[in-house]
Amino acid sequence: LQPGEITVGGVALHNHLLLAAGVLGTTGASLRRMLRLGAGGVVTKSIGPEPNPGHHGPCLVRTEGGLLNAMGLPNPSKEFVGEIEPLKDEPVVVSVYGKDPEDFKEVAGWFAGTGTARGFELNVSCPHAAGYGAAIGTDPEMVLECTRAVASHGLPVWVKLTPNVTDITTIGLAAEKGGASAIVAVNTVRGMRISTEMRRPVLGYRSGGLSGKAIFPIAVKCVWDLYEACSIPIVGCGGISTADDVVEMMMAGAQAVEVGSAVIDEVRVFEQIARGLYAADGVAAEEIVGVAHRV
Ligand code: DOR
Repeated sequence: LQPGEITVGGVALHNHLLLAAGVLGTTGASLRRMLRLGAGGVVTKSIGPEPNPGHHGPCLVRTEGGLLNAMGLPNPSKEFVGEIEPLKDEPVVVSVYGKDPEDFKEVAGWFAGTGTARGFELNVSCPHAAGYGAAIGTDPEMVLECTRAVASHGLPVWVKLTPNVTDITTIGLAAEKGGASAIVAVNTVRGMRISTEMRRPVLGYRSGGLSGKAIFPIAVKCVWDLYEACSIPIVGCGGISTADDVVEMMMAGAQAVEVGSAVIDEVRVFEQIARGLYAADGVAAEEIVGVAHRV
């Protein structure tokens, strides 16, 4: 792939690789560090209308091929605005969540006026946040209204979808109709583990969301389906850790990707992927995006 600046869903990026929401996105310093380490753009931890301590632990456990989490959307709410103020000149996408369109609009509004957000990513897809996550992201009408509410601020809106639906294209089309600039696919897959020794679920919240390599094929299929149904750009997310994963996601239809779990294991993953992905004499992205649909 050819290296260089790109624009995806209205957001200018240094390369095709973004830091996914939730991972190391809780402070301005950690976001800046990921940009220094080669991320082409960063998505913040999701910010909501009220400060939230999150679920009680254990919140994150390793499982074969992935991570199972039920963090519970912990965040400092409005205080986060100051956290990313020093990152004004950087490609920062602010992830927001809420229980209804008014919440989404309010939270996005804190950032819209300050010039700190290049765009928003609507988290309508957390699998374990009663009333805030997938409850919204599985309802096409809600997705449309939340997207429309945030789009009224005049900045690009990306909508991050849940894979925990029978037909993801219905939700993607709702986001598109609401004025989304891009779709991000996907958030975590519902899952749980039980400790046979303790005879109880390993997560404090009991069930949670699975991320990492284990969900990569699920993410590829979601991107594939969305590419067939929707007209706006797709950002692939879910289990990406190598340059080949990025190329595969792009062949399924993604114009850029987000990397999350892999960063937890290897903080230099962006440099590693870029080394395998980019070459001055590489092909243009247009030659790869969606190519597998055209066989
Ligand atoms: O798996 C997830 N965990 N997805 C989200 O959207 C939020 C996060 C959390 O904070 O629990």
